Amino acid sequence: VTPEEFRIAGHVLIDWIADHRQRVPQLPVASQVKPGEVAAGLTPSAPERPEQFAAVLADVERIVVPGITQTQSPNFFGWFPSNASLASVLGDLASSGIGALGITWASAPALTEVEEVVTEWLRELTGLPAGWRGAIHDTASSACLVAMLAARERASGYSQNRAGLQGEPAPLTVYTSPQAHSSVQKAVLLAGFGADNLRHVAVDPVTYAMRPQALADAMAADVAAGRRPAAVVVAVGTTGTTAIDPLAEIAPIAARHGAWLHVDAAMAGSALLLPERRWMIDGIAGADSLAWNPHKWLGTILDCALLYVRDAGELVAVMSTNPSYLRSAADGQVTQYKDWGIPLGRRFRALKLWFHLRLDGVEAIRARLRRDLANAGWLGEQVAAEPGWRLVAPVSLQTVCVRHEPAELVRPGGEIAGGEIADGEIADGEALDRHTLAWVAAVNDSGRAFVTPSMLDGRWMVRISIGAEATERHHVAALWELLKAEAAAAAW
Ligand SMILES: Cc1ncc(COP(=O)(O)O)c(C=O)c1O
Repeated sequence: VTPEEFRIAGHVLIDWIADHRQRVPQLPVASQVKPGEVAAGLTPSAPERPEQFAAVLADVERIVVPGITQTQSPNFFGWFPSNASLASVLGDLASSGIGALGITWASAPALTEVEEVVTEWLRELTGLPAGWRGAIHDTASSACLVAMLAARERASGYSQNRAGLQGEPAPLTVYTSPQAHSSVQKAVLLAGFGADNLRHVAVDPVTYAMRPQALADAMAADVAAGRRPAAVVVAVGTTGTTAIDPLAEIAPIAARHGAWLHVDAAMAGSALLLPERRWMIDGIAGADSLAWNPHKWLGTILDCALLYVRDAGELVAVMSTNPSYLRSAADGQVTQYKDWGIPLGRRFRALKLWFHLRLDGVEAIRARLRRDLANAGWLGEQVAAEPGWRLVAPVSLQTVCVRHEPAELVRPGGEIAGGEIADGEIADGEALDRHTLAWVAAVNDSGRAFVTPSMLDGRWMVRISIGAEATERHHVAALWELLKAEAAAAAW
């Protein structure tokens, strides 16, 4: 494709994207394709001769679009928001078009320096301490792995330069919440700590936030048994219910043992742009790292995860490489992001963040986040007030966790001491699970909205995660009517 051919096809493609975004609200939210259906629509072998752009675009329309769950739909309430603001799409396109190779500062100085400036903007916007430095990673999963590798090496006195963990005299232990995202466990296993050395610390039965005393006890027990606490991973916004672990109380406990304190704020990090939500990271000065995903609620298109660290030197000590072919005269004066993470070659991801913040502006982004928090609060109130429905966790961010509990499946609650009313007790949990999964399937199969079932305390519940860029109050109100109708019609 020559630049002239690119110009013509590119204009068509931009028009197609704009049209596509306009019709997304009319598309079924959940992809309705069956396994293998997309692959069966593609030619089994690569073409020997060039095809027409129009033919490729026609296949995108015919085969690819039906195979996408429409996360940009205003009726998408699944998992967590995965917003792809068009401002950031333009930045992503510019990044692809420029085609920079980010292996060292010298290979694309702008790639490094725009990233330094934009991560500093976001450090300031989210209230992280001065001096913390950020880098863009692909995902929060990778960011957590980097933090765990740094934690392992610090705790073991840089054992990688000796016999590695295999030569260590005592196991290193890691602590997190049972509500933490699966990527935390994955990072701990990949970093070589071993499943036997990962502690799932008890959480509060109402808030689902980590109990600091339980953490202190677990760490003390390990020390007494000759093990060495290496890291604590705090969740600010768990995936299941957006519970917020109490960082301010946890930080001194981690510090007592010299353990690396990593904060996983993958989802909730966006809310730190709101000064009134900064309390979520009270105590951050006592942490070592924090990761969050602009590619979720903020709306910088995937993939865009930020990892901030108090001392970037602790990453460099573990990740640095210095082969002759990567050296330049600027070494020593510049940031080498290759030494802050795992990959050598990096995309120019900072451009999409830079475009996003400049074209949308922080004020509008803050207004949207506040809109979503208000919508979640409103839905929470509707659910709490509706007979037969239950909020199964506090609405601490923009996700509302609910269960429809038909009277036949729940023994009535009653008045307990102090005039409080206790929740009804589940009489037939398996039937309740069947009922929950039946009405969720009906909602998702309808194509009119998409929500995610998830387990909490061993029972299915439903997460309604508000925050698609296009979701307004009337979409949330329509969803609530749909949920009530499908739940009323679902069997068990
Ligand atoms: C709390 C939390 N941490 C980590 C992740 C993983 O994010 P990523 O897909 O960027 O690896 C998620 C994903 O939803 C999450 O909710």
